Amino acid sequence: MAVLIDGKKISTEIKEELKEQVKKYKEQGKEITLAVIQVGNDPASSVYVRNKKKACEYIGINSLAYELEESTTEEELLKLIGELNGRDDVNGILVQLPLPAHINEDKIIETIDSKKDVDGFHPMSVGALSIGRKGFVSCTPAGIIQLLKRSNIDIAGKECVVVGRSNIVGKPMAMLLLRENGTVTIAHSKTKNLKEVTKRADILVAAVGKPKFITADYVKEGAVVIDVGIHRNEDNKLCGDVDFDSVVDKVSAITPVPGGVGPMTIAMLMYNCVNSVM
Ligand code: GUN
Repeated sequence: MAVLIDGKKISTEIKEELKEQVKKYKEQGKEITLAVIQVGNDPASSVYVRNKKKACEYIGINSLAYELEESTTEEELLKLIGELNGRDDVNGILVQLPLPAHINEDKIIETIDSKKDVDGFHPMSVGALSIGRKGFVSCTPAGIIQLLKRSNIDIAGKECVVVGRSNIVGKPMAMLLLRENGTVTIAHSKTKNLKEVTKRADILVAAVGKPKFITADYVKEGAVVIDVGIHRNEDNKLCGDVDFDSVVDKVSAITPVPGGVGPMTIAMLMYNCVNSVM
């Protein structure tokens, strides 16, 4: 029977640790403030933003919320970021993605001061990760490393296969697994013989973006499977990129959806915020 990797429990542990750290900072007179910017009112983004603000409150981080109209211009948004960059009392700046089509996301990300880039999306942060320097790391892949470490799953020397090559998950995930001395393969939509590749994995990270795509014939007996996907199925129930029922009896450990990777993303955002004040 596979071990269920409990992201809810592990994310709570991390948040408790951060809460203690924030308490100590406050005793030294240090406050942490995160500015959260949302442009428009995409319902999914609104849920994420609300949860981020709730997590800040729980941990003792101040949050400044900027809820801007869908019609906000790129210039206006750049001006706000410029102001927040210049404020000594703001430690982290997060612009919720996706942005409306008339705003250039790359330009917005690059304008955020990399010392305040708690999402880890700035080219400086990405570059630092790829050459092994200190810097903010994208929250979902950072959370996956914590799930593995805190479940006592060794990464060093393991065959790690990441399916998906997005800037937010796939690429930084591969970099982090490499940093932990894994032997890393990135597979993607153009990969030939995908099943053969994924079946080599001791640790398989599925960030495909397709519901229940990874079935038993994609996984090796005894593999560890991390499911980054979150979708609603025909019955309106949540499911991941992995067909959980199909693989659960074949693997040694697996993250459920919900309650696996999902809760870790916000916990690691809080980690980045707390570590932004050093
Ligand atoms: N949209 C979806 N995921 C994220 C994230 O981690 N950060 C931001 N800023 N926007 C997102």
